[in-house]
Amino acid sequence: MDRAHGSPLVIDCDPGVDDAIALLMALAAPELDLRGLTTVAGNVSLPEVNRNAARVLDLAGAPDDLPLVSGLDGPIARTRRVRDEPVHGEGGLGGVHLPPSKRRFHDAHAVDWLAAQALAEPGTLTLAAIGPLSNVAMMVRRHPEAAAALREVVVMGGAAFVQGNTTPAAEFNFFADPEAARLVVESGPAVRIVGLDVTRAALFPPQAAERLASMSGAAGVAGRMLDDYGRRAQARSGLAGFPVHDALAVSAVSHPRLLGWEAGQATVECAGTITCGALVADLRSPGRPRNIRMACSVDAEGFAALLSERLSGYAR
Ligand code: RIB
Ligand code: CA
Repeated sequence: MDRAHGSPLVIDCDPGVDDAIALLMALAAPELDLRGLTTVAGNVSLPEVNRNAARVLDLAGAPDDLPLVSGLDGPIARTRRVRDEPVHGEGGLGGVHLPPSKRRFHDAHAVDWLAAQALAEPGTLTLAAIGPLSNVAMMVRRHPEAAAALREVVVMGGAAFVQGNTTPAAEFNFFADPEAARLVVESGPAVRIVGLDVTRAALFPPQAAERLASMSGAAGVAGRMLDDYGRRAQARSGLAGFPVHDALAVSAVSHPRLLGWEAGQATVECAGTITCGALVADLRSPGRPRNIRMACSVDAEGFAALLSERLSGYAR
């Protein structure tokens, strides 16, 4: 299947190592037709996110005219909290320094550009949101008709039945902008959530990252990013592998059968002092209103194999 017949997709991101890997996966996926990229502050500041996004598109050999659109530099209802530890390494890409990019950013704002894409082909466009949901929430608020025209929104975020990674209750993307996360999660009905519940059950082996790092081209660069990111993650978790959160969310679009899904109702805690950003999902008995589908199981080996295979394809 060539890209022209792939599923139309736009990605909202905050690169970040796992965002970078997700972009490489999306651009190497014949199942997907990546139509453009929007950026949001999150793992690093918006200027750093923009710098990293342009450079990763160059690394992936993305078309020069692939739309790259800058978005919000912080949450929609509170001041941005800066991460207190370098989860994504120096510069936000695992300490890997990519060459400066000449890519130009689109004149529009991400919120309005996303709305225009959704309205251009109603019912066909998937939005993968793999950073804080600030841009997506503002699109839902300012352009509700556009949000309704999306085929679906696949969100990397939340931790419903497992501990958070930023506080015991909250995952980073939801903690970074809880009001935005709540607005998007409740916007339903075509919202799929890929949370820590599954990303932490699909750990990538460090040996696989090392194998990639020994390769040439963008495969080797991706491996070096993952190696740094993975060492930091495993130092925190003590586990034998590490999650590549955003790559699993994009794989949920190209390979939905890698995950098991359950319908339910969800919202995000915004008023708590200790639980702010917590995803509260109700998957109990049917008959209740349902606004989301949540990934509750994952083929970890299948995901690791897909990740290794598609990234290896960048070796030169
Ligand atoms: O909690 C994981 C999420 O937060 C990922 O999207 C990662 O890139 C960070 O943004
Ligand atoms: Ca991210």
